[in-house]
Order: sequence, then C-alpha cells, then structure tokens
Amino acid sequence: MNVLLVAGARPNFMKIAAIHRASASFRSVRCSIVHTGQHYDQEMSRTFFEELEIPEPAYQLNAGSGSHAEQTARVMVGFEEVCRKEAPDIVLVVGDVNSTLACSIVAKKCGIRVAHVEAGLRSFDLAMPEEINRMVTDAITDYFFVTEKSGAANLLREGKPAGSIFQVGHVMIDNLLHQLDRLSEIDLTKLSTYPLKTREPYLFLTLHRPSNVDSSETFGGIASALNELARDRKIFFPVHPRTRRMMESYGMQLSEQVILLPPLGYRDSLFLWKDAEAVLTDSGGLQEETTALGVPCVTIRENTERPVTIEIGTNVLAGTSPEAIIAGYRESLAKRQQAQVPPLWDGLTSQRIWQVLTTVRMGK
Ligand code: UD1
Repeated sequence: MNVLLVAGARPNFMKIAAIHRASASFRSVRCSIVHTGQHYDQEMSRTFFEELEIPEPAYQLNAGSGSHAEQTARVMVGFEEVCRKEAPDIVLVVGDVNSTLACSIVAKKCGIRVAHVEAGLRSFDLAMPEEINRMVTDAITDYFFVTEKSGAANLLREGKPAGSIFQVGHVMIDNLLHQLDRLSEIDLTKLSTYPLKTREPYLFLTLHRPSNVDSSETFGGIASALNELARDRKIFFPVHPRTRRMMESYGMQLSEQVILLPPLGYRDSLFLWKDAEAVLTDSGGLQEETTALGVPCVTIRENTERPVTIEIGTNVLAGTSPEAIIAGYRESLAKRQQAQVPPLWDGLTSQRIWQVLTTVRMGK
C-alpha cells in the first residue's frame, strides 16, 4: 500500500512523526512524506524534523508564505504533480492547516482516497481559516480518524457514514509520550539556558492566532493581563514570527518578567511547559497536550474545537479580555485536581490508524 503523508506547517510535524514511525511495523505499507513548505524557517520546520526523528521528505514543494489563496494554490500545483508521479493508494493528511485542505482536494480530484487524521473537530467559527480547512477536508475524506467523541458526533451530524469514522485517540499524544521519555537527557543543560530556578513557579505562553495578534485592541488587552500575571512570576513566551511582526508594529510594552524567546523546537518547548504552573495559549495542540500531562491550561480564545479538554481535562476557555484571562488562570489551577486524560490518548493511536488502513485496503 503506497501512502503519501502530507506535512506543511509546524503543528503537522508532531503528528506525522508518530504516524511515520508506526508505519515501520506494517510491512505492506510504503509511507512517503511530502513537505509542502508552508513553514520553511529552520526553527519552524527543520528543527522539528531533526528533533522528532522524521526522515527526509520524499518531496519538497517549497510553497512558502503568502495570502491563503497564493499559498493554497502553490501547494495544489506542486502536489498534483506528486500524485500523478506516485499514484498513491491513499493520501493521508493531518490537522487543519492550508496544506491539509490543498492536498486533500488535489488527491480527491485525482481519484485517490483521502484519510484525515484529527477529523471532525469543529469550532463553529467560520472566521477561523482552520475551521474552513477542517470542513472542506472532511467533506471529501474517505477515512475519518477522530481524536475525541465530539469529532465523531460532528461527522455523524454532517451525514458521514458511521463505518468510515474511527475513534482512535490522538497521534499528537503518541509523539508527546515518545518525546517525554527522551527528555530527561537534556534537562540539566537546559536549566542553565533559561533564566529559571528549579522550583520557581512560572507560566508558559504561546500566542499566534490572527484573531488575537492582528488586532491591536485585542492584543493590547491580552498584554495587560500578562503584565498583571507577571507581577509575581516569570512568563516564558516563545514568539511566533507573525506575533513578533505585530508586536513591533504596535510598539508593544511587556513587563521584563515576560521573557521573550525565539520560536522553540519541540523539546525545548515541552521542557518548559511540562513544569509550568499553567500554560496560556491560543494553540489547538497545546490545549490537548497539557490535558494529557495534567498541566493547567488557559485558552485565550472565545471558542475551541477541542471540547474534551474542557469537559474532562485541565483546559479553561477564558476568552480574550484581561479580567477573563486572570479569572481563567485561577480557575485552571483549581481544576487540576479532578482532571482526566481522554480515552485512547495512550501513545498507541498511530498503530490503530495503520491497523485500520491496512484492513480496509485488504477488504477493498
Ligand atoms: C499556520 C496555520 C495555523 C497553525 C500555525 C502554526 C493555516 C491557515 N494556519 O498559521 O493553523 O496554528 O501555522 O504556526 O494554515 N513565517 C515565517 N517563517 C515560516 C513560516 C511563516 O517567518 O517558516 C511568517 C510569514 O511571514 C507568514 C507568517 O509567519 O506570513 C504566518 O505564517 P502562515 O503559515 O501564513 O500562518 P501561521 O500564522 O503560521
């Protein structure tokens, strides 16, 4: 079975690392990686391939940045050529970035089956580009791999056949647990890299959503909450390129206790957030990863497509006003006690996915 595994942007790399690693246990599978080049900087891409032990992609499409239309179009043109050359049995896409959308459309129009990992998640917010990517991808997917029960419920409500929906857990957690086991090797050296004393409580922050950083009013409100929280603790903040650009254009003032860092690789990031008092974020993946390790999480957004992290995990959906972020921080600390890890977030999801794909192919 010839499978093309697509990766384009940072959150995809953690997912394909786990899926590709597990493919080695299935002898009938030939799994080749296609990197669309949506993210391309050393620290946004290469570092992840090295740290997460992802093999060299078989194809590099070098799509780069641009408007949504430009980026999506460049990925589509490049990927169509790959599909023609490889004629794969399945194109496997992950998550909800522009590359996910672009490659699923191309595959389907070439008559190739599409498998979507992390299918069915919905924020019901069409102002979010990722929501459009999720809905369009799922409209043409053949095999839906679902991380939480809301994903299956959404797909069934949208009329997808129950037999094509597989609740398998989360490949992001496969990668997290794999990396966690290897992290102790770097702990001691990292302690001297960051201005961090072993037992000093600190927060970890990520912020990159256009809805938060592209409006000076919203970002200004978030910054005032951060400055308030930073009065008696440090906040480690790896800054995404989009966010850095906006901070510079606003002349944003943050407390000296907010430690600005370059975008971090996976391990440095995990090293910092796993022991944080709480994580403040607008990322999708971190809501889930913090839930898996029981770290309090405050989501600086008005909605989430990952409700299980709130229903049973450590996540609090705070919103974006300064008062709500501070209240969310307090609530997340209290929530830690009774939080649970969602079903099947056990490190074995990628194996389940290959099991399903090799079985459905044989039955075809
Ligand atoms: C994309 C994804 C988002 C994901 C995020 C993770 C979409 C619609 N969005 O958003 O879901 O959470 O990645 O980071 O697919 N840039 C660099 N170097 C890079 C890549 C980008 O400097 O390697 C800069 C470019 O100036 C670009 C900006 O960052 O314009 C934003 O990058 P882009 O890929 O357009 O969107 P993200 O905000 O990263």
